[in-house]
Amino acid sequence: MAGSLYKKRFDGRTVNEVRPMKASVGVVPSADGSATFETGGTKAMAVVRGPRTLHPQHMQNARTGILRVSYGMMPFSVWDRIRPGPSRRSEEISKVCEWALDAVIDLSGFPNTVVDVFIQIPKADAGTRVAGLNAAALALAHAGIPMKEMLSAIAVGKADKTLLVDVDKAEEDFHDGEGATDVPLAFTSRKKDISLLQLDGKISPSELSEAIEMGRKACEDVLKVQMDALKGATGEKNG
Ligand code: CDP
Repeated sequence: MAGSLYKKRFDGRTVNEVRPMKASVGVVPSADGSATFETGGTKAMAVVRGPRTLHPQHMQNARTGILRVSYGMMPFSVWDRIRPGPSRRSEEISKVCEWALDAVIDLSGFPNTVVDVFIQIPKADAGTRVAGLNAAALALAHAGIPMKEMLSAIAVGKADKTLLVDVDKAEEDFHDGEGATDVPLAFTSRKKDISLLQLDGKISPSELSEAIEMGRKACEDVLKVQMDALKGATGEKNG
């Protein structure tokens, strides 16, 4: 943090510390799979429906099932109202979440079908796409969808020159010096492959490498919370 205008985190965490995290599965009993994942003031819920026959038929793939992800923020998820319905942002997040989850699931045993994953955000305090991915990966596992690996995600940010794990909204809004940068990341659990990497802001190549390493480590914490939730206990960290 030397030389940075952001020296001490607003909520007192160390730079590598995640917010209190909590996860559960089976939150929507009528769904094929469901889960919630919370980190600080951000909460995501994911519901899985499928595999079920894909309509219209011309969209079917005879070699494999396909994954379809839909992300949305609830109108009351932030202090200001979120306008219901699709937006450019929700379309982008749905697509990147789909690509990230595609890396870990195997739908080859379900030709001509679709697996729908609905991600909804009841509470938003930054990092909703990564919380949504954590909930979605849990819901897919809960639904019994074949998975090559688990998926865990975290946002690493930068306020002025300070790299920070699991940024909250106040940190995302940091304006001084170089301002704020957000790097949402997702890692597969065994190979530790990156299946999501986005960048909003400015970062040097060496800072980006450091941010990826910080994210990889933080995802170990996320994975523990997810695995506890799958084992039946409510997964918690710093809770
Ligand atoms: O949520 P995530 O960090 O993945 O995506 P973002 O587009 O960088 O949004 C950061 C945060 O801004 C969200 O988590 C919300 O807290 C807030 N936000 C908002 O208040 N109104 C919106 N229409 C979109 C985001």
